[in-house]
Amino acid sequence: MGRSSLYVCQTCGAQTRQFFGRCAACGSWNSLVEQVVTASDTRRRRPVVSAAAAAGAAGGAPGASDLLHRARRSESIHTVGERPLQRLGSGYGELDRVLGGGLVPGSLVLVGGDPGIGKSTLLLQSAEAMAARHSVLYVSAEESAQQVKLRWRRLGGAGSQLQLLAETDLEIVLQELESLRPAVAIIDSIQALHDGELASAPGSVAQVRECAAALARIAKRQDTALLLVGHVTKEGTLAGPKVLEHLVDAVLTFEGDRFASHRLLRAVKNRFGATHELGVFEMRDRGLVEVTNPSELFLGSDEPSAGTATIVACEGTRALVVELQALVSTTSYASPRRTATGIGTNRLHQILAVLEKHLGLPLSRFDCYLAVAGGLEVEEPAADLGVATAVVASYRDLTLPPGTVLVGELGLGGQLRPVGQLELRLQEAARLGFRRAVVPKGSGLGPMAAGIDLQLLEAGTVAEALVLALGVNPADDRA
Ligand SMILES: Nc1ncnc2c1ncn2[C@@H]1O[C@H](COP(=O)(O)OP(=O)(O)OP(=O)(O)O)[C@@H](O)[C@H]1O
Ligand SMILES: [Mg+2]
Repeated sequence: MGRSSLYVCQTCGAQTRQFFGRCAACGSWNSLVEQVVTASDTRRRRPVVSAAAAAGAAGGAPGASDLLHRARRSESIHTVGERPLQRLGSGYGELDRVLGGGLVPGSLVLVGGDPGIGKSTLLLQSAEAMAARHSVLYVSAEESAQQVKLRWRRLGGAGSQLQLLAETDLEIVLQELESLRPAVAIIDSIQALHDGELASAPGSVAQVRECAAALARIAKRQDTALLLVGHVTKEGTLAGPKVLEHLVDAVLTFEGDRFASHRLLRAVKNRFGATHELGVFEMRDRGLVEVTNPSELFLGSDEPSAGTATIVACEGTRALVVELQALVSTTSYASPRRTATGIGTNRLHQILAVLEKHLGLPLSRFDCYLAVAGGLEVEEPAADLGVATAVVASYRDLTLPPGTVLVGELGLGGQLRPVGQLELRLQEAARLGFRRAVVPKGSGLGPMAAGIDLQLLEAGTVAEALVLALGVNPADDRA
């Protein structure tokens, strides 16, 4: 059997015969990894159905061997049979919401997140809940059956019919899926699965892609909903190739602050639902608990204090409600100190200059400190109005009415500019329990805004916005 080397890009999966420092396909550096291929590897083709599955598919559903041999023909869209989309409840309302109403049979869902954030916990709890009504297989490729059992006990697992398989070999996992034909299967994690027919190590692009594709084929064929756990690389993207994200129907990310107990579940991609839904959980010693009213979690019970303002930032398609704090105090330096955590200092300088010029506030005689809560980095200009309000509120020792969010970009002329994705931001704020939003005039809200339960206060300039937000005119009694 001939052996040769192939270099596979770990970022995009491109293959070359020669080593390059930079992948010619995607341009990433040092991403090519050598892989030894045997002659049989390149010509290998996995049998599409095993004998067991072909026998099992004899009744009802379209015979697997039919699918195998029947020539594909197109047909008119009108003659395509319609099947109502049946969704399986995941046992958790927050998870169902993010999935767009529940798990779709035959779909592939990738759940990504940082190490230790609680992916296994979430899926094991959900598996346990689903196993009360459906057949569920939990494949643990990272932990032994004993470890999973211990966690299951800790999470309060009791009488369900959950099936457990601790296995890393793809072939065995596929066989088990074919013989059990579960309604739902959980693979924890896709990076730990290993296809013995490929020479590369588990977790490499080729392995992840091949394992996911084999699982996808079987899931579609027997209508098993598959939940795959995926690791996040140190750059914060889902590990494995980008092709994995294209292959699956939905990509969920599980995020959280290392110093806080709350966890956020979001859909980055969803073929069966919207992507702006947010699921909120809290990690307790007995596992994850749904937070049905997250505003309590984010707003806390603390009395609002002077110099605090809340903004809604967007990261890609995600909206985040974030608290800003400003401290303005008389300077004892020749040039006042300006320190910003989580927001660019240049941005802060610019906002202070606008406030000084257009509101006549003598801020150049004051030190100004600004911090974004939770260590988040907010780069977008939509945070400008929030920064300006926090600064003015601290300067005047004013407290904003509770439940107010501020969204808007500040022009150098003191005008408030519209921001993108305003509806998404307002939806998120409304969902988290906010009641009032100060937004730029003429933002042109679309039909989506109709259902948003928020009082909208529109302002054309930063001066107007501050009056609306604070209830008093901060420029009135000039110091
Ligand atoms: N005995 C315990 N008591 C309380 N909380 C625990 C206990 N064991 C684990 N946890 C919590 O569960 C978290 C780990 O959850 P889990 O193993 O589900 O994460 P994961 O995302 O699957 O991690 P990995 O990427 O390593 O697989 C821990 O960070 C901790 O907060
Ligand atoms: Mg895990």
